Amino acid sequence: MDTRPIGVFDSGLGGLTAVKELSKILPEENIVYFGDTGRVPYGSRSREIIRKYTSQDVHFLLSQNVKMILAACGTVSSTASDILHSVGVPATGVIFPTAQAAAHATRNGKIGVIGTTATIRSGAYRNALKKIDPALCVFEQDCPLFVPLVEGGFVADEEEITLLAARHYLLGLKQKGVDTLVMGCTHYPIISRIISKVMGEDVTLIDSGRETALWAAKALREANLLASAGGSRSFFVSDYVENFSQIAEIFLGCNILSDVQRIDIEKY
Ligand code: DGL
Repeated sequence: MDTRPIGVFDSGLGGLTAVKELSKILPEENIVYFGDTGRVPYGSRSREIIRKYTSQDVHFLLSQNVKMILAACGTVSSTASDILHSVGVPATGVIFPTAQAAAHATRNGKIGVIGTTATIRSGAYRNALKKIDPALCVFEQDCPLFVPLVEGGFVADEEEITLLAARHYLLGLKQKGVDTLVMGCTHYPIISRIISKVMGEDVTLIDSGRETALWAAKALREANLLASAGGSRSFFVSDYVENFSQIAEIFLGCNILSDVQRIDIEKY
């Protein structure tokens, strides 16, 4: 048994998709979450900046005595996986668990991948999918407006501006006949109902946050690192606590304001 917390981070709200799943499947685990809301989005930034931010985010989580780190961020996972794997505790990004789930889900072998510009530019999902099965057809599309729309709170199912952006980015993928769509940025599951409205209900959506949480749970179990008592959740952000808490509440279905603290991430 190991009651140290699991550390989860993202540029902002997206990693909550992993937290939600972790809380469901491992309710006794303590979780420390960092959302870098003062510097979001990461996906439009250069490789050097993304790597610098990743290093600081990881150091902050290590200062919280975490037993495992989940980079619940497609951009970090595709651009700085080597940093994650040199931190001294078990760590994972989202690419491998998500690619595995997508390869397993497809029936016609045509998989769409959506993500931030940095993620799509890296080719990380394409490479992972092709490694699993070289015969898969992979179609990629970056969706740079999705993260600002989610962080701005435009997440309701009837949100016209988000639906418009979704049509703009996704209709091309739909025309390719993909039967599986990788939501390769962890922010995207927060607007999955809008994405599904455009893609059609017969297209299987793969949630990178959820798949990574499932992978982490399995890894903790295998390493005998599960906690048998706890269940606390602490959230840290690098900008306004209130903005984060409001949108988190819509997604998590509970008020977390009293569990959110602001930190200066530049110190790490
Ligand atoms: N959730 C992050 C990801 O999975 C968003 C990156 C960003 O801030 O642009 O890529």
